[in-house]
This record gives sequence, C-alpha cells and structure tokens, in this order.
Amino acid sequence: MKIGILTGGGDCPGLNPVIRAVVRKALCEGYEVIGLKNGWKGLLESDFINLDLNAVSGILPKGGTILGTSRTNPYKKEGGLEKAKENFKKLKLDALVVVGGEDTLGVASRLIKDGITVIVGVPKTIDNDLSCTDYTFGFDTAINTAMECIDRLHTTAESHHRIIVVEVMGRHAGWIALESGIAGGADVVLIPEYPIDMDEVCVLIKNRHQRGKTFSIIVVAEGAQFKNKDLILQEEKLDEFGHVRLGGIGENLAREIEKRTGFETRVSVLGHIQRGGSPSAFDRILGTRFGVKAVELIKAKKFGRMVALSGNKIIDVSLEEAVKSLKTVDNELYDMAKVFFG
Ligand code: F6P
Repeated sequence: MKIGILTGGGDCPGLNPVIRAVVRKALCEGYEVIGLKNGWKGLLESDFINLDLNAVSGILPKGGTILGTSRTNPYKKEGGLEKAKENFKKLKLDALVVVGGEDTLGVASRLIKDGITVIVGVPKTIDNDLSCTDYTFGFDTAINTAMECIDRLHTTAESHHRIIVVEVMGRHAGWIALESGIAGGADVVLIPEYPIDMDEVCVLIKNRHQRGKTFSIIVVAEGAQFKNKDLILQEEKLDEFGHVRLGGIGENLAREIEKRTGFETRVSVLGHIQRGGSPSAFDRILGTRFGVKAVELIKAKKFGRMVALSGNKIIDVSLEEAVKSLKTVDNELYDMAKVFFG
C-alpha cells in the first residue's frame, strides 16, 4: 500500500504532528508514504518527498508544514483535473490523505466525484469553521497566541488611556475573535456573523469611560462587516478560490471610533502571527489522533470520509457533508460573550 499526503491552504500549527502520525501509523501497518509538496501543486507537478521515520523525526513541536503549502486549485488550472488523475496513477498511489480547510477539502470532495476516489480528509484551520467536527487543529494555538497579545495590549491601553482595536483572523466565522476575546477579557468582540453597529459599539465604550475605565480593548475579526456599507473598505485581489484578501476592518473601525467618541484609538493587526509558532499540547494531540485515524480509515478502505472530533472521540464523517457549509458562531455563544461587553 502506498499512501500520499498533502497539506493545502493556509498553514497552521499542528500540521506536522498530523504528517508524523500518518507516517508512524502507516509504517506500523507496513505501508509506504510519500509527501506531495505545496498542496495540490505537488500532485499537479508530481513533486514529492519520501516520508520515512527519519523524515518525520523531530517535527512534532514545529509550526507550519514540512511539506509546504499553497492555495493552488487544480480546477482553476487548464487540464488540472486530467493532470491530477494522470499523476495519481503515475505515482502508483493507493490512497491520499488531504489535510486542509474548506478549499483544500472542497477540491478533495470534487476529485472523489471526478475519479480519484481513495481520499481521506483531515480538517485543519485556525479559523475552526469546518462543519462536522467540534474543533480543527490550529485553532487552539491561534487563540492562545491572540489571547496573549490581548493581555499585552491591555497593559499598554490602560497606561495610555487608549482604545485599542485588535484585528484577528477569521474570514467567514468569528471563532478566533470570540474565543480569544472571551479568554482575554475584551470589552467588545465584533465578528462576521453579526454586522457592526457603530452606535452600539460607541455606547459600550462611552459607558466604560463614564464608570472610570479610560481604556477599552475591541477585538474584531478580519471578515467582520459594518452595518453601514459606506464604511467598508474592500481589497480587490482574489485568490484561486475566489477569496478577497482581507484586512483593513481594524483601521476603519478605529477611525470611526475615534471620530465618534473623541478617544484616542490605535490598531494592532495580529495577522499571520496567529498562524505561526509551535502547536499547543491540544493541537499536537488532536493532530496526532487525526493522523492515526486517517490511516485506520485507509486500512478499512473507508474513503470519502473526514476524520473529526466529537466531544472527546475521534470519529469519521462524510467529507462531502463536511464541506457543504461552514460552521459559524451561534447566537447562544455570542449572547453569552455579550454579558462581558462594555
Ligand atoms: O487559513 C485561514 C486564514 O488564516 C484566514 O483566517 C485568513 O483570512 C487567511 O487564511 C489568510 O490567508 P493568506 O495567508 O493567504 O493571507
């Protein structure tokens, strides 16, 4: 049995633990593993490395991915599907482990229908927005990083009597903003699921000032939008999956807050800092459990499945189902967080 593995889309802490676990478990079963480089690009270009025990030794605590990643979409390349099928055959692969988020796994799901059927998915993303799994790995590390930044920003905001807007990642879902905001004691958290009402935000800030708190920390997800569309700043550049390159909401928000409240307001954009660094224990363990389960699924010939976390159990779910819609923040959790706003 020869297994291929690739990591696609935005990197995140925990990818290397998955690669290591897939290789270790596969070798236990007497299987051979190759790593396709840079996501789907590696399959299109037949660019790979052999993954043996030595290749995965020492990678557990390392952030990023030893295989590299890209946002290459085979369906956006001329003859991409044919090339992918041809190389899959040429490489004599019996199974493919695809580690990715909505886009990478979306391609996997399409490829299954288009003839590469022997695929197993592993859900990754710091955004935690994949359906059918309680958590994706990478998220825990990202919110801990963001929380630490929020803690640091608190002390400087308080000393200078400033408002600090902290822009975090989260394209369609506000999980990072909400959970790092709850953990870091943010005074307002703004997320893509609920359009920003500037009047409400300013009232919350002014109320704090009235009770003697001359600083505030506002956490905003990069994908959040204003209720008033005139305030939106939109970047035109799109990637191969049609996503706009986000960033800028924090600046706009800070400008509006300062204009409306008169309080000095600064912005801190955490950006890719949230994606870098060593995975937390939780992400190392989750990635490891996912990797082992992926090989178990291959052994059982359960293809078209995605490994997932349900409570504390590792299960498998339909890959097609998992990529149908995104998991966004629900009212209940956001309402709970609101108790601490202002
Ligand atoms: O991987 C998800 C993500 O981190 C999003 O939160 C963010 O919008 C995007 O990736 C950023 O992508 P890039 O690294 O291509 O700028």
